[in-house]
Amino acid sequence: MVTVLDSRRRFLKSTAALCVPLVGLSSPRVWGAVRELPALEEVKFDRSEPGLARAALLAAPASVNIDGKLVKAITYNNAFPGPLMRWREGETVQLKLINRLDRDTNLHFHGVSLPPTGRADNIWLHVPPGDTFDYEFTVPKGEGGLHWYHPHINGATAQPMFAGLAGPILIEGDYEFERELDCDDRVCVLKDISLEGGKVQPHRASEWTVGKEGELLLINGVSRPTIRAKKSLVRLRLLNASNARYWRLRFSDDRPMIVLAHDGRYLRAPQPVDEVLLVPGARAEILVELSDGRPVDVVYHPTGRRGMAYTATQSIMTLAPPSVLTATRMPSHLVSYDPFRIAEAQADREVVLGLFNICTRFLEEARVDIRTQVNAKEIWRVRNADFMDHPFHLHTWHYEILDINGQPPPYSARYDMTNVRVGFTVRIGIHFKQHTGRTMYHCHLAEHSDKGMMAVLEVV
Ligand code: C2O
Ligand code: CU
Repeated sequence: MVTVLDSRRRFLKSTAALCVPLVGLSSPRVWGAVRELPALEEVKFDRSEPGLARAALLAAPASVNIDGKLVKAITYNNAFPGPLMRWREGETVQLKLINRLDRDTNLHFHGVSLPPTGRADNIWLHVPPGDTFDYEFTVPKGEGGLHWYHPHINGATAQPMFAGLAGPILIEGDYEFERELDCDDRVCVLKDISLEGGKVQPHRASEWTVGKEGELLLINGVSRPTIRAKKSLVRLRLLNASNARYWRLRFSDDRPMIVLAHDGRYLRAPQPVDEVLLVPGARAEILVELSDGRPVDVVYHPTGRRGMAYTATQSIMTLAPPSVLTATRMPSHLVSYDPFRIAEAQADREVVLGLFNICTRFLEEARVDIRTQVNAKEIWRVRNADFMDHPFHLHTWHYEILDINGQPPPYSARYDMTNVRVGFTVRIGIHFKQHTGRTMYHCHLAEHSDKGMMAVLEVV
């Protein structure tokens, strides 16, 4: 969270540093309003016992500074957006969730491959108001990357999540390429919001169908921040923590976005692209070259997903090069992983997305929609038979996209989120490694999941 005092100090510093040399009055950029991208609040873990990381997470209403205004929101540890949790591979996390809300809550550790049972990524348990719950699990190897956490209460997630209950998890990995990567490393939480009378705007009836978007496009709680880079290479770790907004991002000039990871999983090699599309719940890590000394904007572009109000193309963040430019080095190899082999698939299933339903059924927690065996390899054909796009999420296991309407994807990657466009079929390959138990697959438009667009998967 940014306190009022902090942002004022930052404001004074940035105007002093920037306005004289760079601006003429005709400049379209309002330099007087330059705001440095705030660093996220962090959950402070006690690591005094080796191998253990202990902390508490308080879910409670709080007044926070959102884009320069004092607003009543729903928060974790009184921060907006939710504070960053840093975990390390191999350590045991003990996290006490304290519920001071007026409703049940719980935690989903989105993207992290944890058991969906017990004290781990158990979305079935409810923590009643005034109660606490002690989560405890070991962070598996190979999970290094950007993930996130949010509540996961059947039928009652969208409102508290829109009002602030969402935060990033950054797992420190043990990757060869990171040791050589000399960059300015930033976590950016993309979260839109609407404010009304000093509060977060409540849902309107129509938003339960199309999803609730906010007109303020915030990054780490502020609009249009600037990163004054400390290095000539910047690593942006982007999380879309919005309920419904699709963030399609491009640069304002022709430099590429160099993708390192999708959904917390690294690619085999850096992949230059023109744009990244972050659907709700998705993450991406990209590298940005600033060694030529030119500033560049990150530009939001509307997506033609049906049903939504139109948001104009707009710059949402500026990257300013460092004062001392250096030559940058790009890693050539990131990680290795086995490709999904279609010939090894033991099942081929169709998953049909309809309006608020999956395979024409609304969620029933007691019903198992798909049952499979641990270590099975399966192909799912996720087909959108509805009139709007839906972002598809599978808990616990990442998947590879095999093809989209029969066309192979431009490069190999592993995902836990993917957009399924109207009339499209996305074929995914899943290896149900390691974990057993009941978990879920669903549309991640929070309003759609609340309306029942979720289904139960059981791995035995
Ligand atoms: Cu991020 Cu089942 O959700
Ligand atoms: Cu949906």
